[in-house]
Amino acid sequence: MDIFDEVKDSIDQFHQELSELDVEERAIEDFRIKYLGKNGIISNYFNKFGQIPNDKKKEFGKLMNSFKNEANQAIESLHQKLNEKQTKQEFFDYTLPGVKPVEGSIHPLSKTMDDIASIFQDMGFSTELGPEIETDYYNFQALNFPENHPARDAQDTFFVDDKVVLRTHTSPIQVRTMEKQKPPIRILAPGRTFRNEAIDASHYCTFHQIEGLYIDEDVTFSELKTTLYLFVKKYFGEDVALRFRPSFFPFTEPSAEVDISCFKCGGIGDDCSLCKGSGWLEILGCGMVDPNVFKSSGIDPEKYTGYAFGMGIERIAMLKYGIDDIRLLYGSDKRFLQQFKQL
Ligand code: PHE
Repeated sequence: MDIFDEVKDSIDQFHQELSELDVEERAIEDFRIKYLGKNGIISNYFNKFGQIPNDKKKEFGKLMNSFKNEANQAIESLHQKLNEKQTKQEFFDYTLPGVKPVEGSIHPLSKTMDDIASIFQDMGFSTELGPEIETDYYNFQALNFPENHPARDAQDTFFVDDKVVLRTHTSPIQVRTMEKQKPPIRILAPGRTFRNEAIDASHYCTFHQIEGLYIDEDVTFSELKTTLYLFVKKYFGEDVALRFRPSFFPFTEPSAEVDISCFKCGGIGDDCSLCKGSGWLEILGCGMVDPNVFKSSGIDPEKYTGYAFGMGIERIAMLKYGIDDIRLLYGSDKRFLQQFKQL
């Protein structure tokens, strides 16, 4: 094969490689060295110039010069393409407005729990927890609900079996705490509770309570009143009034229910949608710990007295935030939850 054919084959090869080349720095540089480097294909042909017969020298020179020029131009345009590609990749417009990250919000129930708990923590109450699946003993028996007593029916119970229930209130934590701590006891027990009730706008099969318990020598009903008075003023506002209504719970004696003056109508009633015209809102049950509860928990009722209270978190959250259906609190509807972003 004569040298002209060889060069022409090389040019074809060059075109082939050029068309398949990746526009990458390394690949372009290798390609350049292969054809245009000091020992590259093109120099090697130029070195053979002396061997070309004189009458062919002009033709060979022309062919080689055009090969070399084409190779130089190809490399130049490859560098240009690489440049464009890199600027495109690196371009970032720092003046663009940022994308706001999606923010969650605190659930109104968590917020209510936390706010209430922190008021009592400031008054020296520490936190105790108990199991959600509870024995009949702690949920009823030790709390002075005698077997077959009608008071048990008032708490529509989910039974696991004869002796095990889903706790219907947080009061069993009173007994569990009295069993393991010696007075003075001052605890707050938040938690989830369960009742087998027909579900409607104000009833749900599960809800939350916060239980309070204070036991020491000479604890009086007026201390209970003061504690709840301070709590209500702090949580609902200075203008809100309280009233204690006599009530009944098997585990407290005497017992009371606490109402607060309606903060929507200011206690006037009339056609207020929140208090249904009564001017009052019931928020909790309370009383002095019944001596029978002390006895079953190993605390001497002759030496100690104490008070207990329990409130429903859903009810308080609904009152505080104007929520008219308890099911909204369990619906996970983002449109509902996002309204509490600013809490
Ligand atoms: N456990 C009662 C209830 O669920 C509330 C309560 C707690 C009452 C403590 C008195 C003392 O209704």
